[in-house]
Formats: sequence, C-alpha cells, structure tokens
Amino acid sequence: MIVTIDGVAASGKSSVSSGVARALGVPYVSSGLLYRAATLLGLEAALDLHDASGLLVHLLAHSLRLEPLAGGNRIWQGERELTGELHSTRVDAGVSVVAALPEVRGWVDAQLRALPSPFVAEGRDMGTNVFPHAGAKFYLTASPHIRAQRRASERPEDVPAIEAALVRRDALDRVQSAPAPDAVVIDTGPLTLDGVIQTILAELPEGLWSEKQVSGRATPVY
Ligand code: DC
Repeated sequence: MIVTIDGVAASGKSSVSSGVARALGVPYVSSGLLYRAATLLGLEAALDLHDASGLLVHLLAHSLRLEPLAGGNRIWQGERELTGELHSTRVDAGVSVVAALPEVRGWVDAQLRALPSPFVAEGRDMGTNVFPHAGAKFYLTASPHIRAQRRASERPEDVPAIEAALVRRDALDRVQSAPAPDAVVIDTGPLTLDGVIQTILAELPEGLWSEKQVSGRATPVY
C-alpha cells in the first residue's frame, strides 16, 4: 500500500508525511530530497544546471542513496551524508531548473519505484506520475504568505523575500505540481500540523487505518 502526499513548496508536506507515516508505522519517502541532492552535486561540480545529459552522467557516476525512515529521510553519496546541505538558499534557487529536466525526473522516478512498499510518498507528482495506483492520495496547499511565515524560521531571509521566492518557485514547479484528479486537496492554512495529519488519517480508506487506540497510540493495520 502506498499513500501519496503532494503539494506546493513549504506547504508542510515533509512534517505531515512524517507524522502520517509514523502513525501508520511505515517509512515516508521524500522525493524532493533526490532533486535537491542532484542540484547540490551539480552546483559542487560547477555544471550547467540546464545541461541534462552532463548532469545525468555526473549523477550516475556519483550514485546517491535515499534512506527513507518514518522520522526523516537521509541522503548519502557513498559514506558522505548530504542531508544537512540540501535546504540552503543556493539549492532552493537551482532545484526548480534541475527538477524540470525530464532526464533527471526519469532518474528520480526509477529510484522511487524501486523502493519496497508500504510507504508514504511525498513530493509534487507522486499521485499523478510516479504512483498513479496509490491507495490514497492527498494534495496540500496554503497561501504564499502563510508558507513564507512558516519557512522564515528555517531560512536567513525575511518573510517578504521568502514569499517572493516561493511565488517564483510555484510558477516554475506548476507543470509537475498539479493535484491528481482523485487526490483529496487540503488547505493547511487554518490547520495545525496535527490537524492536517488527523484529517489525512480520517480520509484513509477503510481497512488501512484503525481508529482503535492502544495505550494512547493509534494502531496501523498495514
Ligand atoms: O519539496 P521540496 O521543496 O523539497 O522540493 C524541491 C524541489 O523539487 C521543488 O522545486 C520541486 C521539485 N520536486 C519535483 O519537481 N517533483 C517532486 N516529486 C518533488 C520535488
């Protein structure tokens, strides 16, 4: 069983996916980290990020490994962990260019489809392109201002600068970031993190999730 959680940048996808995965007792898979890691490797090698074939050759020569855990994903290049370097402003600025390259998308999709289910998959096109037969699909939105306020604690820039960058990124990501027709769309603006997680758990198909609580913890029924 695969649950997909897609949505716009800074809509809370990672925290929500991690919470849903923990409640279900399965890993979550952050597809955005693979795009970010591809961008970091390209920047470090001073490659032209528009040059799909150059980037792909470089990626294949420096195999990246995604470690999907319920609590948070990690990315490795051999023995080197890249995770802590993937949310910098320069990676933010370059990742939309890299994610628009069909060759890179194919490389990411192949890695994701090779992962053993069950899991919660988080990204932009999990429910549309990568896992169209997922058992349950969700799409998270929130206004640019609310998303910028949330992200301000993680970035050195002020809220207006973050908001402007998010609006630019929304436009660049629009093609690959449309909700699946069968996705439940959730506006996270008025909800707390736990509120979004509970909304998703309540929407899961019968049999996937038990309301039964055991010593305060919900019981996954995968
Ligand atoms: O979710 P995120 O902000 O970490 O994603 C980083 C970038 O990768 C973002 O510009 C959109 C892109 N992305 C994508 O195109 N498809 C995905 N499945 C996941 C992320």
